[in-house]
Amino acid sequence: MSTFTIDTSTSRATPTPAPMKRLTVPAIRKAKGATPLVMLTAYTCRMAQILDPHCDILLVGDSLAQVVYGLPSTIPVSLDMMCAHGAAVVRGSYHSLVVIDMPFGSYEESPAQAFRSASHILKETGAAAVKLEGGEAMAETIAFLSARGIPVMAHIGLTPQAVNALGGYGARGRGEAERAKLMRDAIAIDEAGAFAVVVEGVVEPIAIEISAKIGCPTIGIGASAACDGQVLVIDDMLGMFDRVPRFVKKFADLSGQIEAAAAQYAQDVRSRAFPTPDQTYQPKSGPSDA
Ligand code: KIV
Repeated sequence: MSTFTIDTSTSRATPTPAPMKRLTVPAIRKAKGATPLVMLTAYTCRMAQILDPHCDILLVGDSLAQVVYGLPSTIPVSLDMMCAHGAAVVRGSYHSLVVIDMPFGSYEESPAQAFRSASHILKETGAAAVKLEGGEAMAETIAFLSARGIPVMAHIGLTPQAVNALGGYGARGRGEAERAKLMRDAIAIDEAGAFAVVVEGVVEPIAIEISAKIGCPTIGIGASAACDGQVLVIDDMLGMFDRVPRFVKKFADLSGQIEAAAAQYAQDVRSRAFPTPDQTYQPKSGPSDA
């Protein structure tokens, strides 16, 4: 099923939407303990159109750093990048709640800085919520934004924006101190009013414990099937990369299919098998041509 009928005789860029009621933040919050929430990242309008009918939440993740821009980490991502991709995903979706990542450096300084950045993101994109990384240290900011009409999804565990402090992308919660810290983070962001929390790259028992303990839905990535939902980076699950984290399941082999299509195209161009009469324009035959 698709929410779109795309009229290619006019423009690929202006599809005819079949509007559905977009999921709201309260609806997502209420999904705790019900059917698991389905969340995927999206960075472009066309991908949003394809994913929208199947998802509850589309995340415009700052993972676009590596996935779209070939950057080494999420650190260099700017507000402008998030706004441009966020607006495209909102334009391409009618059903899913769209959540946009706040980039590194746009919110950590103070709740006021976070409000300025988050309100800019919501105004520029039309999205309904933002996501930010951090637990206890971000609780005050989450409460500040939530009280001022900006729904916040939190992100704890393996937080990629903190790669320089964490020293890499390894799983969290292996020792007692880390486990206790993760639980404190989860309780703090829940009490601060986060409407959901991404729990990334943590040992499974702590993901299960957090999901049972806190009131908002947990969305797992490298966490546990017991979370209240799951998220994956779209290009990872489509098989666009050879190397992916061990928590990724590849649901397709798109890079293989794209390579095969490109190789076939190259062969057809070089052998002049493409274009054929089907793909070329011929003069109309008639009296004026005589
Ligand atoms: O940036 C991102 O894609 C994310 C997900 C991995 C949760 O934060």
